[in-house]
Amino acid sequence: MNGNPIGFFDSGVGGTSVWKEVIELLPHENTIYLADSKHAPYGRKSKEEIIKLCIKNTEFLISQNCKLIAVPCNTATTNAISYLRAHFDLPFIGIEPAIKPAALKSDTKKIGILATKGTLSSKLFMDTQKEFTQHVNTIEVVGTGIVELIEAGKKDSEEMRDLLVSITEPFMISGIDYLVLGCSHYPYVKEILQELLPTQVRIIDSGAAVALQTAHILKSENLLNPTHQAGKHLLYSNLQIETLDYLTKEIANREVCLLDF
Ligand code: DGL
Repeated sequence: MNGNPIGFFDSGVGGTSVWKEVIELLPHENTIYLADSKHAPYGRKSKEEIIKLCIKNTEFLISQNCKLIAVPCNTATTNAISYLRAHFDLPFIGIEPAIKPAALKSDTKKIGILATKGTLSSKLFMDTQKEFTQHVNTIEVVGTGIVELIEAGKKDSEEMRDLLVSITEPFMISGIDYLVLGCSHYPYVKEILQELLPTQVRIIDSGAAVALQTAHILKSENLLNPTHQAGKHLLYSNLQIETLDYLTKEIANREVCLLDF
């Protein structure tokens, strides 16, 4: 069981930004990553549709003997994680926008949150926001179009830069000092965002927190892989593998395959 893989799924390639943090912290773990790019973006779907897709992804990962499932997708976590935890008998690690640290550290008491419509309108997001931002102003912006361009392999394109110029406009005029990236695709455009935003704005995501929580749960459930060998990584896409391959090319021991799941 301990040598079994950790499963990951996301609506596409974005969750690999989180997957990289997990495998860096846990280099001996084997992993399977599902990029459900055929159904991206999840952010525009209803809660019911998102849950249905999450069940399908979970069932596939369980059929591959995964010992734990990480959901490095804010939209899937905020809409479906409680359903998954209630219906499947293995540990799930979710991801949520890092609102709490941003709200606690902000000097200007103004923080920006960039996420999908599905995340910003979810109950879990609203509850978290209510809990941690009582003394802070939040400026929420839907990152419409960013996921699609990243999925199409255009994260560094002029088209992306133009889109981000208009998306960041509300943040430019509001005096935020923290920007929370509430979608796992967005760390792939962090550099462009940092160039566009005033230099004092700190951009934070939740990748490291997911990695720490994954390590913590594996340890507490006695599920860590005791081997000293480097982990092997299987990445599946159900649309095309080019972007997935390109975004993960620096990682050793990985295989990227097309699979109709
Ligand atoms: N990467 C995902 C997230 O963290 C999903 C984006 C989408 O499919 O809309 O929300």
